Amino acid sequence: MILNFGSINLDLVYRVPHLPAAGETLASSSFEKYLGGKGINQSIAAHRSGAQTLHLGCVGPDGDWLREQIAGFGLSLDGLRTVTTPTGHAVIFVDDSAENQIVLFGGSNQAFTTDQFEAALAQADPATDWVLCQNETNNVPKMAQLAKAKGLRVAYSAAPFDADHAIPLLDHIDLLAVNEGEAAALQSALGKDIQSLGLPYLLITKGSKGATLYAGGQQFDQDSFTVTPKDTTGAGDTFLGAFVAELSASDDPAKALQFAAAAAAVQVTRAGAAPAIPTREDTLSFLKANT
Ligand code: RIB
Ligand code: NA
Repeated sequence: MILNFGSINLDLVYRVPHLPAAGETLASSSFEKYLGGKGINQSIAAHRSGAQTLHLGCVGPDGDWLREQIAGFGLSLDGLRTVTTPTGHAVIFVDDSAENQIVLFGGSNQAFTTDQFEAALAQADPATDWVLCQNETNNVPKMAQLAKAKGLRVAYSAAPFDADHAIPLLDHIDLLAVNEGEAAALQSALGKDIQSLGLPYLLITKGSKGATLYAGGQQFDQDSFTVTPKDTTGAGDTFLGAFVAELSASDDPAKALQFAAAAAAVQVTRAGAAPAIPTREDTLSFLKANT
């Protein structure tokens, strides 16, 4: 099972001709609202990739629509708490070249309590289960520490990047997932190469340049698949969720890397974050057609 302690956001998505400059007033050509948040995007990716997944999250009193969306993806609502803080949301601009700009309001995602994850961790199985976390919720270091103490494998996505959040976590994780920008920022904050940390898994995604995984003393390189992107929001989340799902099922890092790259390639051809995430069948048929 994959246990994800992660964010849930309402994504407010505006299509714009270009990303706004300081002081500019821009008209958008469309507006949509979607389920999003790095945490739930990863959970949906893991679930749709075939892994049994439990999402632990917090929504506000205004979170009913998001609960319905989550249930609609086939995920259990058992790990959700309703808190008094308004639900987290993200204002997202997507331009004609599929680039984005995101402003986050943390809200309910900052209301995690330790008892919420202690109860879930008590039921987890160290032989098989993975824990996922990111930087959009509070209490992450504490949760990672508890998960490690129980012998669970912890995967951490250092997004959105903040060195003060990332550094204390490095002793409590098995898998670090970063994009190239996050890798460079972490390296300069640490003053050393992140490969020298000797983590069991280091996953560096590089957008259209593919991804590199360091695992078990080996380096695995994966090219990205060529697609015409429509909206890249949530591509990194899809990559990580699909990767951990496939790795926990096959224990084959190279296979998991290729599967994740394919899932992310399909995801960017569709609008939105969570709704764009492909099912296992979609990803496998994309792979069949493109390898
Ligand atoms: O990674 C994409 C996500 O970042 C969006 O869904 C948005 O909610 C922000 O958290
Ligand atoms: Na997308």
